[in-house]
Amino acid sequence: MKLLVIGGGGREHAIIKKLKENPETEKIWCCPGNGGIANDAECVPISATDIEKQIAFAKEKGIDYVVVTPDDPLALGAVDAFTAAGFPCFGPDKKAAVIEASKVFAKELMAKYHIPTAAYASFDNEAEAEAYLDSQKMPIVIKADGLALGKGVIIAQTLEEAKAAVREMMLENKFGSAGSRIVIEEFLTGPEVSILCFTDGKTLKPMVSSMDHKRAHDNDEGLNTGGMGAIAPNPCYTPEIAKEAYETIFMPTLKAMEAEGRTFKGCLYFSLMLTEDGPKVIEYNSRFGDPETQAVLPLLESDLLTIFQACTNGTLDQQEVVFKKDSSCCLVIASKGYPEHYEKGFPVSMSGEALKHCDFAGVKLQDGKLVSSGGRVLGITSTAPTLKEAIAKSYELAKEVEFENGFCRGDIGQRALRALEG
Ligand code: AMP
Ligand code: GLY
Repeated sequence: MKLLVIGGGGREHAIIKKLKENPETEKIWCCPGNGGIANDAECVPISATDIEKQIAFAKEKGIDYVVVTPDDPLALGAVDAFTAAGFPCFGPDKKAAVIEASKVFAKELMAKYHIPTAAYASFDNEAEAEAYLDSQKMPIVIKADGLALGKGVIIAQTLEEAKAAVREMMLENKFGSAGSRIVIEEFLTGPEVSILCFTDGKTLKPMVSSMDHKRAHDNDEGLNTGGMGAIAPNPCYTPEIAKEAYETIFMPTLKAMEAEGRTFKGCLYFSLMLTEDGPKVIEYNSRFGDPETQAVLPLLESDLLTIFQACTNGTLDQQEVVFKKDSSCCLVIASKGYPEHYEKGFPVSMSGEALKHCDFAGVKLQDGKLVSSGGRVLGITSTAPTLKEAIAKSYELAKEVEFENGFCRGDIGQRALRALEG
């Protein structure tokens, strides 16, 4: 099988490594990939959103199966275009990808189908949004409607902060057109859980649960980032909660999408908050999470390519999806200053052992050597029988990474360990 993967981050690297485990995989290309992914796939300098060129490339190479993971090409209709051109493809079509691409859509869907989530109101008029805030309790959450690289969410502690956030999004276009409509929602509290699920539109099979670490610095300080590390499984997500989430959130969402004529196939990712009133949806993503994927996939025992194909073919009910009982920990090493200003172009190298555990994200090849080229540069993931051991292994391996301009959080997994120790 000749495979084409669209994307170029740590998530895509983890997916490619897993796809290589299938003996039928003959060769993998990646558009655009990165300098480190180049160890495992042939990288092609076509951007993740240049769907026309990707299709021309797929025709030229006789690609058998395509995997689209980033939100932008999904929202642009990459899966529709590949499917129309005759290429079987993993991922939701444009109509289904809207579950992530529009937070207003997601909130309306949940309201209509009684799926538990934070109470909310949506606005496309700035003055009305400000007037609404006057009647609300603080803290409160303000979200840009569209895709904003995981950064379009502001938790305001005071009314002034809330109004400033609304003005930034709606008048000053801080997130571009993504912020011309906004959602204002109730502030929820409780542990957060990420659940990535395989689905063919009818059957849904959750992967092992995970926990992201979104803030840039230890003790959840600093700005929100794309994710600074992840552990799996998430100890807060008990079998009882998993059953409740499946019955009250996962299946109702899948059925709601079908009823709306937006059948979702691919990876549906539920970001949940475990509140005192039960699990509630914080957001939906129409794709694998990053860095959750890097923590989750090494625990997958079943074959990833076969599962992907079952999602495309509508046979997921007959497909086994089994995870190892171990735990895993992914540490992200980012450029100093991320998620704000950071410099690029620093050499990145590591021991052979660390390389085996590394998923590359923001790196490129320069004169045959790897240099940093982005905010999140790489992830180091280990698995072990216990979470404590997995964390220790990943931190040991991270010491074997040489990257002068890098930093990683020192407390990835600590909150989960505290939860385990009760
Ligand atoms: P999102 O990009 O929607 O996942 O939001 C980013 C982060 O903001 C989440 O991981 C939560 O920590 C936080 N957040 C989002 N919505 C809420 C909410 N309604 N209540 C409390 N925290 C929230
Ligand atoms: N780790 C959060 C995300 O992928 O959206």
